[in-house]
Amino acid sequence: MRIEVISLFPQLVDQVARYGMVQRACAAGALQLRSWDLRDFAERADRRVDERPFGGGPGMVLQAEPAWRALRAARESNPDGPVMALTPRGDVFTQAWAQRLAAERGLTLLCGRYEGIDERLMAHVDVQLSIGDFVLSGGELAAMLLIDAVARLLPGVLGNARSACEDSFSQGLFDHPQYTRPREWRGEEVPAVLMSGDHAAIRRWRLQRALGTTWLTRPKLLVGLELNEEQQGLLRDFIAADRRAVN
Ligand code: ADE
Repeated sequence: MRIEVISLFPQLVDQVARYGMVQRACAAGALQLRSWDLRDFAERADRRVDERPFGGGPGMVLQAEPAWRALRAARESNPDGPVMALTPRGDVFTQAWAQRLAAERGLTLLCGRYEGIDERLMAHVDVQLSIGDFVLSGGELAAMLLIDAVARLLPGVLGNARSACEDSFSQGLFDHPQYTRPREWRGEEVPAVLMSGDHAAIRRWRLQRALGTTWLTRPKLLVGLELNEEQQGLLRDFIAADRRAVN
């Protein structure tokens, strides 16, 4: 996959490819990341790309022309996939979005700054995405987050392909809790079932804890899921045990 990122801070965006999974994806040739400096497309000699908003108000607005020129250059180099603007008013980025985008051959990301981008540019953007209901000072961190979430889903990037399927959210649930050595840590034992070698029991325990953790902290995530009989039973038992523990 090839990802183009248009930004006022291309060196910031480049950092995402220096570490961990994204770095590994680039090294393996699964991902090519290129950042574009919006100021290279400025109309003005001072390389400024912002102006005061028409109609008044605080702050500055990114002008349409430099962003449009940058988009055109990035698309010439990488015409595949959607053009996406990172903005707090976009559709919220989720694991389902990450999975959808990981299937694309290319992506072009446009990072806003200041009070936003001239609205007329939005006609040249396919999707507006937000990473949550809060306001960052720019779209760069949002783009880096998106790149990380997508890169780890690219074929051949995660060592164990199963772990992407078992991620939190990939089935609409949080992941189950994990334990590792030592078996006893400061008086706390690992749940006995995990040491039992009984793989069917471990699978059920993990499924129940995934359902239970989701129910405890984000119950709305369960609303859209059609739980099968086993899952319903495991969740019912989890809730009953939780109520007994509370009372
Ligand atoms: N730019 C500023 N805030 C943002 C957010 N929440 N998501 C995406 N881009 C942003």
